[in-house]
Amino acid sequence: MVEQLSDLLARNRRWADAHRRAEPDFFSKLTAIQQPDYLWIGCADSRVPANEIVGLQPGELFVHRNVANIVHPYDPNCLSVIQYAVDTLKVKHIIVCGHYGCGGVLAALGPPVEQPLESWLAPLRVVSATHADELAVTRTDDARWRRLCELNVKAQVASVSATPTVQAAWARHQPLTIHGWIYDLHDGLLQDLGVTVDGQGRG
Ligand code: CO
Repeated sequence: MVEQLSDLLARNRRWADAHRRAEPDFFSKLTAIQQPDYLWIGCADSRVPANEIVGLQPGELFVHRNVANIVHPYDPNCLSVIQYAVDTLKVKHIIVCGHYGCGGVLAALGPPVEQPLESWLAPLRVVSATHADELAVTRTDDARWRRLCELNVKAQVASVSATPTVQAAWARHQPLTIHGWIYDLHDGLLQDLGVTVDGQGRG
């Protein structure tokens, strides 16, 4: 556990030193070019560190994280990330990654929370309402929570696919595939939810 903020700076120096020792031109190579193949859209949750869980180094993963990995159709933050990743970096894959045990998803299963979080979670409430029948017959609260985590990923994959940036990329036949994954905090494993979409309309 980090006790003081100054510890973080000390850790940073050790991290930079270790990288330089292992590979003297590590940072000069990194500054020269950024060419990741993947955009990761994940939850801000501190237990789901994007680069680490897929074993990728700095420079290899373009990352956007927010509460509950939601892609609002009018969120200039997330939409700009997608735009830059697709149009400039030309990533080949966009991975929407949710996780079981997501606090944002749990909040959307309960009564309204304070603003601005309630507005942020609005798409999750829509997903929940859309699948109300299925969720109502899901036996336990925990199973309902897990299921909504999965349904949210699927909905956000659809949301990414519908963005003008992705639609335009597919129209000009740029290789780009959208994936929906979910991470389990209990064993550190990712699961592909099988909702992959690309510009050819293949499932
Ligand atoms: Co979360």
